[in-house]
Amino acid sequence: MQLTYTLENIDEAARHFWEQLNAMHVFAFSGAMSAGKTTFIHHLCNMLQVDDTVSSPTFSLINEYHFHYNGEEKIIYHMDWYRIKNVAEAINSGLEDCITQAVATGNYCFIEWPEQAWALIPNPHVLLKINSLSPTERTMHIELIN
Ligand SMILES: Nc1ncnc2c1ncn2[C@@H]1O[C@H](COP(=O)(O)OP(=O)(O)O)[C@@H](O)[C@H]1O
Ligand SMILES: [Mg+2]
Repeated sequence: MQLTYTLENIDEAARHFWEQLNAMHVFAFSGAMSAGKTTFIHHLCNMLQVDDTVSSPTFSLINEYHFHYNGEEKIIYHMDWYRIKNVAEAINSGLEDCITQAVATGNYCFIEWPEQAWALIPNPHVLLKINSLSPTERTMHIELIN
């Protein structure tokens, strides 16, 4: 699947994204600095009407967004691995535990800069590659990795 959007219709893109992919739990957002990873995640979270962002009480380096979906309380764990140097550091920072727990509890992980510790991204996951077509347009390639 592929989505092309500007900031004008990013909410529509986020809605479509969620309709198609809400059964998945691990989302790896790949793309250059300023490609729009954080912006897309924030619009998706607004669409899901998350409560205020809180730093995770359990895991450092992770923001939690709580919301209700299909009558259930759900959590998105949003991580940015930009400053993570390697797999060992990711494990020591609790990032692997967070993913394991999120998958086990039916919650969600959104990971920016997954390249920093690819080995920790479990299958199945959704791989999203964002590219800039112009200052205002982005294309997101979406792939299911089993
Ligand atoms: N269609 C678009 N989607 C996302 N961001 C866009 C778009 N058009 C312009 N932008 C701008 O690009 C920048 C993306 O920054 P950000 O989301 O922080 O990137 P990343 O997290 O990938 O480093 C923001 O300044 C945003 O306003
Ligand atoms: Mg970012």
